[in-house]
Amino acid sequence: MNSAHASFFILLTAALCSCGSRDVPHGGVEGLIPHPRSLELEGGACFFEGRLTVAWPPAWDAEREVVRAWCNKAGLETVDAVAMAEPPQVDLAFIADPAVQGEEAYVLEVDRTGVRIRASSAAGFFRAWTTLRKMMPVECEAGGCGAGFSLPGCTIEDEPMLAHRGLLLDGCRHFQDIGFVKQQVELLALHGMNVLHWHLTEDQGWRLDIPSRPALARVGAWRTEADGSRHGGFYSAEEVREVVAHAAARHIEVIPEIEMPGHSSAALAAYPELGCTGDSLEVPHRWGVFKDIYCAGNEETFRFLEEVVDEVVELFPGPRVHIGGDEAPKVRWSSCARCQRRMKEEGLANEEELQRWFIGRMGRYLASKGKTIIGWDEILEGGLPDGAAVQSWRGMGGAAEAVHLGADVVVSPTSHCYLDYPLRSTDLEEAYAFDPLPDSLNHGPGRIIGGEGNMWTEHAPQELVESKVYPRLTALAEVYWSGRERTGGPEAFGDFLERLDHFYPRLDALGVAYGLESPPFALETRPSEGNGIEVEVAALGRGVEGRGTWIPEQRSVVDSIASAVPFRVMDAGVVRMEVGRRGQWTGQMVEFPVDGHAAAFAPLELGYTPSPWYTGGGDFALVDGKRGTEDFRDGAWQATQGGDMVATVDLGLPADIGVLSVGVYLYQDAWIFLPESVLWEGSVDGEDWSTLAFMAPGLVLNRDDRQQRFELKATVRTGAPAVRYVRMTVRNGGACPDWHAAAGSASWVFLDEFVVREKSDDRP
Ligand code: ACM
Ligand code: ZN
Repeated sequence: MNSAHASFFILLTAALCSCGSRDVPHGGVEGLIPHPRSLELEGGACFFEGRLTVAWPPAWDAEREVVRAWCNKAGLETVDAVAMAEPPQVDLAFIADPAVQGEEAYVLEVDRTGVRIRASSAAGFFRAWTTLRKMMPVECEAGGCGAGFSLPGCTIEDEPMLAHRGLLLDGCRHFQDIGFVKQQVELLALHGMNVLHWHLTEDQGWRLDIPSRPALARVGAWRTEADGSRHGGFYSAEEVREVVAHAAARHIEVIPEIEMPGHSSAALAAYPELGCTGDSLEVPHRWGVFKDIYCAGNEETFRFLEEVVDEVVELFPGPRVHIGGDEAPKVRWSSCARCQRRMKEEGLANEEELQRWFIGRMGRYLASKGKTIIGWDEILEGGLPDGAAVQSWRGMGGAAEAVHLGADVVVSPTSHCYLDYPLRSTDLEEAYAFDPLPDSLNHGPGRIIGGEGNMWTEHAPQELVESKVYPRLTALAEVYWSGRERTGGPEAFGDFLERLDHFYPRLDALGVAYGLESPPFALETRPSEGNGIEVEVAALGRGVEGRGTWIPEQRSVVDSIASAVPFRVMDAGVVRMEVGRRGQWTGQMVEFPVDGHAAAFAPLELGYTPSPWYTGGGDFALVDGKRGTEDFRDGAWQATQGGDMVATVDLGLPADIGVLSVGVYLYQDAWIFLPESVLWEGSVDGEDWSTLAFMAPGLVLNRDDRQQRFELKATVRTGAPAVRYVRMTVRNGGACPDWHAAAGSASWVFLDEFVVREKSDDRP
């Protein structure tokens, strides 16, 4: 400490803070997430009155308002120390200290004289304040500190591992109102994060008002859903400035993402002349990747994008703009005379190089406005545009390549960082296990500057977003701030969970609709004595309760997870479980369709190898009694890409078969088609076979955006002989048809269960 600060320090020693025990809310360090680099508890506590004297950092106007507003909400009055005539009796002192090095570094001390925060930057002071806020009693978040509070004596030295710690928020697939966006900024600040990556343009909606291009807001911001309803919205300049200022006061950079050259259907719906074909199109309501993208051969495209950029640089003062660059199919460019002419003029060998040229040109325009660009890892494909940073999402391969090429890199791979993915794919523990700085990536002239959690909103209207983002982003916040030193050990996740239990009440106080940590339940099926199958439901998640009914009968089958007993199922239905959490029923339902049919757990032989991504649970998935849901990734579906699926089941004894069925899935955008036909044959000895039933559902050869399951069900003709073996042959429909984005590629067929019902079952 140099002498100037030493003299200030002397003034602080007469602060109001006092010893002893009093009946006020007590703060603590138990809920600190991210965990500081170094934390020493010194013993003892400091008691504060409901009136805090504060010596503020210089030039900290917007931040001071944030802190004051929080204190006022907590019931605390803040009094500026400088306004006091006597030597200041300071409870909270922010002390500029150049010895504390690092853009966001700080030292925070609490002792019987009060709180001292030292930092060399405004950002460091703010991060320290955030830590202090999380040490203050949770009652403060809801106005409960007016009578004072206590803090434990401690010394914290802290600094983030990564400079860029963010959330990608997709405001396009579903629009979020400005109040919600500001709440997410506030939550980023609470997590010590410093980037809101705001995804503002997409196929399904353009969200930024550009006054010189009014059709973007009038046309591009709105879509008609499949059910005829309208969805959309856009942000005015004033609203954007409000978000940006809200973020700036919390030392959060807002990085706008303006997608190019793909994911641009909404812009093309507003200005069709910017596409290669010039054809008019609608703002799509389907999800996926679309082949109409900005024409790279048309100067008007660049005039348009430059006008957009001109507005963007006005609204977003930060140094960086994200230009997307992902998932841009090149089919239109391949057959566009203007794009081909451009490639010839510019000496570009292929369409990937044309994309690099496109992004490079816009990158230079942005550079002329003082901005650098970030793009998704696809921008590596035609060669990295000069000066571009790369955001790696398709695993960490793009990160490795970009580091090697000398670029700055942000990591957010689908394996750990996709907050829109279901918990079954990425649970809290998986997110916490992410290593953003693997040793293998630290060998190049470039460097990994940070990471994000990505919240895409195809399947998340605003009211569901927080349930997907939190608490997984809470885990990523610690991953990016604290690094593997903290998150990597064998005890680390348990330690995080303990702190998380202290952190949840703060999220509760802020009204955050956070979700679960893992899938709440697992349903197991087993062979039963006699007919049908045995079913058991267990809780997977911490603190999860459950109660369940059997639909359609509404029979209670699980009273409580703690005392759940197996129950028998002899027919088709659904176990509907309600999620309870920390002593409260949430109303959230999880459904498990099951079927105790005649072939359940009978020996099964497959004439194909299921895809390793869609095994349905293993080789016996087709007879495990678990049916698939409307979500083809639910783990119950078994699939193959190309080829027929032949399965034979042995019922043990000859039986009169009444009904045969199989669940299939249709989702053309994911290359999943109905089978061409299903043939069921029966045999007494496994050698001679006769047809029991046949159906040809008819391939859906037209564009069809339904995503749904179908039951292909056939009644066996009367008089058919009793059989011991049943063989099902499901014929793949062949390649994706000509109109399809993947025309010519092998299509997928998904099956959930090989259902056999005996005649005596007496059911339709
Ligand atoms: C992405 O998820 N398409 C970046
Ligand atoms: Zn073109």
